[in-house]
Amino acid sequence: MIQTVQSGNQLSARDRRANDMEIVPLGAMLGAEIRGLDLTDKIDQGQSEALNAALMAQKVLVFRDQDITSDQHLAFGRMFGEVTIHPFVPHLPEMPEMLVLDNHQDNPVLSTDMWHSDETFREEPPMGSILRCREMPPVGGDTMWADMTAALGGLSDKMQGFLSGLEAIHDFKPFRRRFAGLPVKERHEKLAEFEERYPNPVHPVVTTHPVTGDKVLFINEQFTLAIKDMREDESRTLLDFLFTLPRIPEYQFRLSWEKNTIAFWDNRPTQHYAANDYFPQRRTMHRITIKGVRPN
Ligand code: SIN
Repeated sequence: MIQTVQSGNQLSARDRRANDMEIVPLGAMLGAEIRGLDLTDKIDQGQSEALNAALMAQKVLVFRDQDITSDQHLAFGRMFGEVTIHPFVPHLPEMPEMLVLDNHQDNPVLSTDMWHSDETFREEPPMGSILRCREMPPVGGDTMWADMTAALGGLSDKMQGFLSGLEAIHDFKPFRRRFAGLPVKERHEKLAEFEERYPNPVHPVVTTHPVTGDKVLFINEQFTLAIKDMREDESRTLLDFLFTLPRIPEYQFRLSWEKNTIAFWDNRPTQHYAANDYFPQRRTMHRITIKGVRPN
């Protein structure tokens, strides 16, 4: 049985309203809809601060019916920090900051159908991502997020104590497949170039969120390679167990997208998984990613 501790999603009436926007919790652990905010209008300082506070409390913010331009999407992201460019995933030709996930018959999903936090193969993984739905099949294509503070808190004190001393090695492993079709020499050269640019970072297995101070279980199936200084079989067994935790429904929030739905998530205390149940139909998403700091 999973025991969950109620998170900040029980809001008082006063907390639900900030700067004329309404924050409506959607999930028991995480996830809230922001109502009363039109992202085609200029967002002022007070509104961005209120959104930032809501993001820290709710971890995933959902905005419906936001028919914004790519420039507005980028400008919105820049209100929360420096925007980064993904080294492996395609982007809009005229806007390298706008990552494009365009999956259909001829471009099956590569790896978003594995639980992950974005880009933990970086020394400084993103603080957050802002994903906008451009096209969705009539059914399917939902995204799930898991609260990795709740997942950690569900473990025994003994296990939490054991994990808190460990470090894990991360790698851009699913993106290695992008080079598979190249001639051998070119493949090796390209991989060597990316390995030099993105050497395996070592992150704590249990991190402290830099704003909330919450403890977070910070390993993920997409990018975590091994537990440092453990035997290979020990590391594999432990990681296999830890990778099951975001799959537990009690820690999750699930979003059904419509065209022009936007989700803004705090990448540090969450993992996400995009259900790959719509192939061969088309699902197109645009993402702006905000730089973070080295996890501690
Ligand atoms: C992502 O992993 O950033 C994309 C998730 C999604 O396509 O729903």
